[in-house]
Amino acid sequence: MSDTRSSSALSVLMVASEAQPYAKTGGLADVTGALPGALARLGHTVTLVMPRYRGVGAVGRPGRRLAVTMGGRVFDVGLVEVAHGPRERVVLVECDELYDREGLYGAGGQDHPDNAIRFGVLSRAALDYAVGLDSPPSIVHAHDWQTGLVPVLLRTRYSADPVWRRIPSLFTIHNLAYQGVFPAETLKALDLNSALLSIDGLEFWNQVSFLKGGINFADAVTTVSMAYAREILTPEYGEGLEGLLVHRRHLLTGILNGIDTDVWDPQTDQYLPVPFSVSDLEGKRSAKREVLTRYGLPDDAAAMARPVIGMVSRMVDQKGLDLIWEARGALAAMDAAFVILGTGERRYEEMWRDLAAVHPTRIGVRIGFDERLAHVIEGGADLFLMPSRFEPCGLNQMYSMRYGTVPVVRATGGLADTVRPFDPETGTGTGFTFHEYRASAMLSAIETALAVYARPASWRTLQQTGMRQDFSWDASAAAYVHEYRTVIGRRREAGGEREDWSYA
Ligand code: ADP
Ligand code: GLC
Repeated sequence: MSDTRSSSALSVLMVASEAQPYAKTGGLADVTGALPGALARLGHTVTLVMPRYRGVGAVGRPGRRLAVTMGGRVFDVGLVEVAHGPRERVVLVECDELYDREGLYGAGGQDHPDNAIRFGVLSRAALDYAVGLDSPPSIVHAHDWQTGLVPVLLRTRYSADPVWRRIPSLFTIHNLAYQGVFPAETLKALDLNSALLSIDGLEFWNQVSFLKGGINFADAVTTVSMAYAREILTPEYGEGLEGLLVHRRHLLTGILNGIDTDVWDPQTDQYLPVPFSVSDLEGKRSAKREVLTRYGLPDDAAAMARPVIGMVSRMVDQKGLDLIWEARGALAAMDAAFVILGTGERRYEEMWRDLAAVHPTRIGVRIGFDERLAHVIEGGADLFLMPSRFEPCGLNQMYSMRYGTVPVVRATGGLADTVRPFDPETGTGTGFTFHEYRASAMLSAIETALAVYARPASWRTLQQTGMRQDFSWDASAAAYVHEYRTVIGRRREAGGEREDWSYA
């Protein structure tokens, strides 16, 4: 069917558990922080609904209040609206008993025990908020397991409404490894029909999976790179959901994330001592000195000549920390300095601390979350290491290239889609890649990179090619709009009918 309104502006209701600048634990927040603005620049209107966690300062204006009833409880919810421009707004869902606590998803290494309710209430609040608006959204876009119930609710609780039954949803998987799996009884606590505990519903090994709900009930599913969209159809990357994803592959697409080129710009970055650009890389030396100083490492001529390898990462197996563990002796023996920032599993944090204690002049480690330091590392390092076991998209490799910091990555997911291997014959490429998930493969990629680092002219070409890549949101936002229009057309064609009423 031809979409007669293909140039009309859309109104998008987005729901997510984190977004910059309000709350961030990882790349999801960068995406939900930047995508709405990119869509608004294309002329569309976006409302992003997310929890108001502890620490979000005094912002916005209090709006309506909602009573969300769930599992026999009533949650008194406040809605704080923050305008981000003429076509972009954020609605913070205030409910202190659920969101005013330490940690977004958990504290002290433990998930909050009521996460199903916390994110169930978020999903309900987002839809109830939108139901109360003068005009309904054109599409609802939910992200990751925390909002997996949004597509489910649309096709169940809200499906009796003739307007809402026509509104499609898009579900984006940022990471298949986090699924939001809860005991079967949780359905009752969420006021969801027990019939949903079925293979076509939310059931996953006799438990309830929010992520499966999102995948099963959305009108289309996207993930954040083309390579990851292919990989998750296989047992190696499918996290037990590969069968379902293969079944729904006609609805699955990969749309590569963009990066916020205003926030990550070496020409304007306020955290760098001296700005630099592709035509004038002089300031990068100051950034290198800055990062060495910040880590208490020497910055004499020998230290400035030695390559600095940076890492900003959650310290978990996904990010290749087990490879680093295996290769730690060989890494520490390299003629290179390391500047490491991250938090995660205790054993990996301790590994880095121990290495820094043994090599205090070459290995600097900061355990924690530090946005500013992340910028200084991106600016000051020569190489950036991402040996991920899997990587749905990955943002740091794109930040790195923009800052003339050459990535060394495992060719998986978004890393494979964004980093082109350096070819010494032609001098083309933007970084160094390895394929096999083995410490030896990683070490040999780093060794190759260090050999090229020793050839300044080749290195400069490599840096500049990376800096010239366009990773801005423009193309990705346009791809989302295309996907939105496709699902809107599809649902309109179907007249809003679907077979899910039995679950309502
Ligand atoms: P993921 O979301 O899987 O952790 P991404 O590469 O998509 O990986 O995004 C991670 C984001 O979080 C990047 O913006 C990165 O700079 C940031 N980040 C990760 N760890 C830290 C940290 N310890 N301090 C500051 N920023 C961090
Ligand atoms: C997830 C993925 C990461 C991706 C990010 C944003 O956290 O692990 O690869 O870049 O989401 O989509």
